[in-house]
This record gives sequence, structure tokens and C-alpha cells, in this order.
Amino acid sequence: MHSPVRNDIERVLIDEAVIGKRLDSMAADIEHDFPEGRLLVIILLKGALVFAADLLRRVPHLLEIECLNVASYHGGTESSGKVDFLDRHFPEVRGRRVLLLDDILDTGRTLRAVQDRLLTEGAAEVRTGVLLAKDKARAEEVEADYVGFEIEDEFVVGYGLDFMGRYRNLPYIGVLKRSAI
Ligand code: XMP
Repeated sequence: MHSPVRNDIERVLIDEAVIGKRLDSMAADIEHDFPEGRLLVIILLKGALVFAADLLRRVPHLLEIECLNVASYHGGTESSGKVDFLDRHFPEVRGRRVLLLDDILDTGRTLRAVQDRLLTEGAAEVRTGVLLAKDKARAEEVEADYVGFEIEDEFVVGYGLDFMGRYRNLPYIGVLKRSAI
């Protein structure tokens, strides 16, 4: 536990074992809801990378996986209010049933913007899954179909979530010390 990274963490909010158990039941829900498989999963980089890798390995269906780079925070701890699509290529989604995965639902702008874009590009259906959802009023009307954990409205890192590009590799969700911000 005595690592330079661990020293920046004030407290562990959700530990690795608890995350693992929750992913088991989320994967079971997804398997149950899409019995015929044939899902196109879209992972929002970079925050949902760790969550998606661990979740999708628990889903026994034939999945196709694409990634999208979007930016809404631009490095700080407050959403900028604007969602930028950073890829030159947008995946082919016409007629597909899509499962969109993100790390955390905060203001809702990211999920809303990406969901709208997927539907504009012709996706037949878009379901959404997030590891975390902050318990707060959303700027956009959007809720996720699959939610790992509801958390208080505080800035968290780890398990894919970052502050200034760091802490994504922590195996748990933690709250940063003020001194690290
Ligand atoms: P919105 O506000 O669009 O936010 O729902 C979604 C994106 O904002 C980032 N985000 C966070 N990143 N700790 C983080 O490391 C947080 O507490 C946090 N809250 C929001 C994240 O990139 C997410 O995809």
C-alpha cells in the first residue's frame, strides 16, 4: 500500500473485490438482455478502458468492439460543458445494436452527445453502461441502462479514471487528497 500513487489517495471508495463482484452481475444483466448477442460495443477512451476490459471479458457473447476518443474535461476536475469527438474515423454503426460504455455519468453531456451522434449515424438502438453514476442533477436528461455504482458528487480517480492523466492504473476507485490536486 506504500506507493507514491497510493500516498496521493485520501480514501478508497470502492475496492477491487467489490468492483469485480459488481461486474459479474452487470455482465449477467447484459447477457440476459441480449440473448442473441451480436452487439457492437463502443468504449469511450480513455476513462472506460479498464472498466470495459474487465466487464466484457465476463460477457460470453460474440461481441464487436470499437473505441471512441471524446474529450469533455480537458485536464481539470470540472466538465468543460463541450464534448469534442477526437477521431477522424467514426465507426460504422448503421443498423447496429450498440452498447456504449463510459467510466462515469456526471453532467450527462458526454453520454448524451455520443448517444445522439450514434443515432444520427444510423444505429438501430443504443444502450448505455457506466461504472459510476454521480448522485446529482444532470445538465442533460440521460440515465444509463447499466450502472455499476451510484456515488456522491465528488471527484474520483482510479480504475481508468484520471486526474491530469494520472491514476488510471489504480485497481480501485479512490478520492484524491486535496494536496494532490
Ligand atoms: P459528463 O459530465 O459528460 O462526464 O457526464 C463524463 C466524463 O467526465 C469525466 N469525469 C470524471 N473523471 N473523475 C474523473 O476522473 C471524476 O470524478 C469525473 N467525473 C466526470 C469522465 O471522463 C467522464 O467520461
